[in-house]
Amino acid sequence: MTFEEARRVLEKNGQGHVLEHWKGLSAAERKALLTQVAGIDFKAVARCAKVLGDNASAVKRGKPTAPKVASLSGAARRRAVAAGEKEIAAGHVGVLLVAGGQGSRLGFDGPKGAYSIGPVTGASLFFFHARKIVALSRRYGARIPLYVMTSAVNHEATVSHFREHGFFGLDEADVVFFRQGVWPGMSDDGRIILDAPGHVFMSPDGHGGLISALKVNGCLADMRRRGVKTLFFFQVDNPLVEVADPAFIGLHVLKGSEYSLKLCAKRDPHEGLGMVVRRGGRFDMVEYTEMTEEMNNRRTKDGELYFKYGSPAIHVFDRAFLEREAAKDMPLHLAHKKIPTVDASGRTVKPSEPNGWKFEKFIFDALPDARRVVCLAFDRADEFSPVKNAEGKDSPATCRADLQAKWRRLLAAAGVQVPESMPVEIDPAYALDAADLARTGLVLRPAK
Ligand code: UTP
Repeated sequence: MTFEEARRVLEKNGQGHVLEHWKGLSAAERKALLTQVAGIDFKAVARCAKVLGDNASAVKRGKPTAPKVASLSGAARRRAVAAGEKEIAAGHVGVLLVAGGQGSRLGFDGPKGAYSIGPVTGASLFFFHARKIVALSRRYGARIPLYVMTSAVNHEATVSHFREHGFFGLDEADVVFFRQGVWPGMSDDGRIILDAPGHVFMSPDGHGGLISALKVNGCLADMRRRGVKTLFFFQVDNPLVEVADPAFIGLHVLKGSEYSLKLCAKRDPHEGLGMVVRRGGRFDMVEYTEMTEEMNNRRTKDGELYFKYGSPAIHVFDRAFLEREAAKDMPLHLAHKKIPTVDASGRTVKPSEPNGWKFEKFIFDALPDARRVVCLAFDRADEFSPVKNAEGKDSPATCRADLQAKWRRLLAAAGVQVPESMPVEIDPAYALDAADLARTGLVLRPAK
């Protein structure tokens, strides 16, 4: 893009100020700024500005009620597992991993997925996710493509991390990295914010950016080519997740669901998990920030929380559903943030109060569009312990403890008691579950 082209498109969109420091920029800064401008989706910018003007951050209406939540045991579980195994073995299953977030609460300098979580080896979050796919692929003799969503900030580092570790044993051809969209930040008046004289402040478009990014980057077409119909979705920060759990996949397939969700009982009424609800005849998600005190504390006759189950963002999607959603615009959510800006003298200043807006899409905003939805309860001790914060709740320390407790339970089920004081770690490609452990033939007997 030339300077003239940039000027024309910016002025046409009321954003001419983006070039106001042009004269003072070096040749390299000018080139970088033109590249940035060429990458801006001005249709999306206009939509963001309109939402800002209308103050219309994805408003939801209607009285929410709790949904039916299935749990699987006995024959029903066996039927679901058999259906899921068949789907995986047929090569119909792919895995979607969203890893484009900025991980600001953890404060780790790098992609969150590269964070070292293995209590013994220090292996990364990506290691544990990828090795589960290696195990499933081997178990079912099938290819299971992994689609990893990154953002501009962490794309190269994410790809390098996989490369440096030999893709953790996955076939490189079955790992697809793609970038989510980024949007400029805006001030109250809808003007794009510069965080340096030659640089537009951009931020990722949220995990809901997945759906458009899958389309724009040709991933939906790739899935079709491979015959992938069913997509297991999860977040990068939870190494306990049962990736492509056959029971979950099977239930989704048997019920003809378009969007399935695993839900767990909240650890307390105020835990920050989204709530799946029924509203106006559809399924919907209420963010924890939108839950009223009354909703948080409402009880059933038996004294249980009425809104008991939270969503840790473990989903299964039908590919056809994602294709349908990709043709639509998702709602936008606004977040008021402290965004560095350039002052009149051309210096970057860090504000002490929120001064600008970021825009995000949330994956669960697709939920009301799904014609069939399945909610499946699961035991969080086995499958959910995210790394969100540097310390305290949902931190590396709690996650490592939960991982080790899970591995100790697996070992115990295979007949081996490991003392609490002994660190444990199991490579998922060595053993995914107790049955695998028993089959390894490795006789782990506690010393007499
Ligand atoms: P979080 O909401 O926990 O955000 O993301 P985060 O960016 O990882 O962490 P904080 O809030 O800055 O501390 C949940 C999941 O969604 C992905 C994250 O990578 C994580 O797997 N995500 C989030 C994206 O892929 N893109 C985004 O724009 C936001």
